[in-house]
Amino acid sequence: MNANHYDLLIRGGTVIDGSKAPRFDADLGIRDGRIAAIGDLAGASADETLDAAGRIVAPGFIDSHTHDDQALLGQPAMAFKVSQGVTTVIAGNCGISAAPLREGMALPMPLTLMDTPDTPRFTRFADYLQALRHRPAAVNVAAMVGHSTLRATVMGDDLDRAATDAEIAAMRAHVEEAMQAGAIGLSTGTFYPPAVKATTEEIIEVSRPLSERKALYVTHMRDEADRVLEALDETFRIGRALDVPVVVSHHKVMNRANHGKSAGTLAYIRESMRHQCIGLDCYPYTAGSTMIRADRGMIEERTLIASSEPHPEMAGRELADIAAEWGVDRAEAARRLQPGTAIYFLMDEADVQRILAFDETMVGSDGIPVGDKPHPRLWGTFPRVLGHYCREVGLFPLETAVWKMTGLTARHFGLQGRGSLQVGHHADVVIFDAATISDAASYAQPTLPAQGIDAVIVNGLVTWRDGAHTGARGGQVITRGA
Ligand code: ZN
Ligand code: CU
Repeated sequence: MNANHYDLLIRGGTVIDGSKAPRFDADLGIRDGRIAAIGDLAGASADETLDAAGRIVAPGFIDSHTHDDQALLGQPAMAFKVSQGVTTVIAGNCGISAAPLREGMALPMPLTLMDTPDTPRFTRFADYLQALRHRPAAVNVAAMVGHSTLRATVMGDDLDRAATDAEIAAMRAHVEEAMQAGAIGLSTGTFYPPAVKATTEEIIEVSRPLSERKALYVTHMRDEADRVLEALDETFRIGRALDVPVVVSHHKVMNRANHGKSAGTLAYIRESMRHQCIGLDCYPYTAGSTMIRADRGMIEERTLIASSEPHPEMAGRELADIAAEWGVDRAEAARRLQPGTAIYFLMDEADVQRILAFDETMVGSDGIPVGDKPHPRLWGTFPRVLGHYCREVGLFPLETAVWKMTGLTARHFGLQGRGSLQVGHHADVVIFDAATISDAASYAQPTLPAQGIDAVIVNGLVTWRDGAHTGARGGQVITRGA
């Protein structure tokens, strides 16, 4: 083997290495799926060379918050992620995971959202990870087990109550199995009906197997509106009781009366960080998206229908227009459209910017890979942070923007050998044009790929190039501590 020969050589680019350090000019040599050299490689040869002159060469982006559990198997090209420069996704968020499930069991909302008729049922977490290894997707995945999924598996459809001691023990056994299989943590979604009645104590007792491994507790909190501070308090209490790091998912403050509250939530987060390990993520939009809800707090502002099982023809339309057309109020229209997903304009731009700019905030899309009219965050999150919020608004330097989607995320989620460009690390790389990178996806046209991304490399394989997928599927399953 010639030490001066590489599988892939990226020439003439400007490296932003994912550590927040200032950029520098360097070539990058890749061999056997790893970064083999960074520096002046003028004399080197390679099987394939990419010209990166005038471009940024950065670590592949890590999507800290996804619902890609089923899509990784059903849509393994993962174009909606790869096209943005994403090379790794964290799955199993908001209490929802693809395993463990019982054969033939009916799933409650919102678990049904990600489910497709041809999705296999994995009774053990190990079986899910094994399926991903057998049929690799185009991106790497690290997965968590979801508390709502555990509740549905153990408690059936009798979910509108706290779990009994026996049920808690059964859920804990599933968590232990998931941990042994390599899950990186557990997520909850106490905002959602299947887990609303779960007590703090239930969550702590179910999550006990996290403690000895220092695995993550990640949460879509009980409340992101009037009682957001109490919800943060519960989250931190659980983290301390288990002595594990916590991640507050898609941090936001919803509803007009709460606009501006992020100043207080961030101050509380920062203060609490002095005593325990806390992370948070955020997507760069003022609208959220989740299952169709009929409660006033959710639909009092502009609401767009993203998908509806009984009325697929209403995808992309305003709830208010549908209600008027049907001659009913919005709540009734929402009920008739269920089950499905909607987009809710409940946040304030100043809060979004304050949270995004907070130094410890990671970027996570929370994209829902379902239907033709998804929230544009599914295709646009990462280029939107780099183009709109970094270049146009000037919220932070490019080095910081990249760090929020690479090095910081790898640190919080314990992803070793990824998230920064270093010799020996996995060769997950994105090459982009800092002057033109932008999100094309909009609420009206949500599935347009980003602009300004030249190439995306996953474990050394060129997976996206010049606006097209190469068909490569080199994603790996990342397990805790691996
Ligand atoms: Zn969520
Ligand atoms: Cu989510």
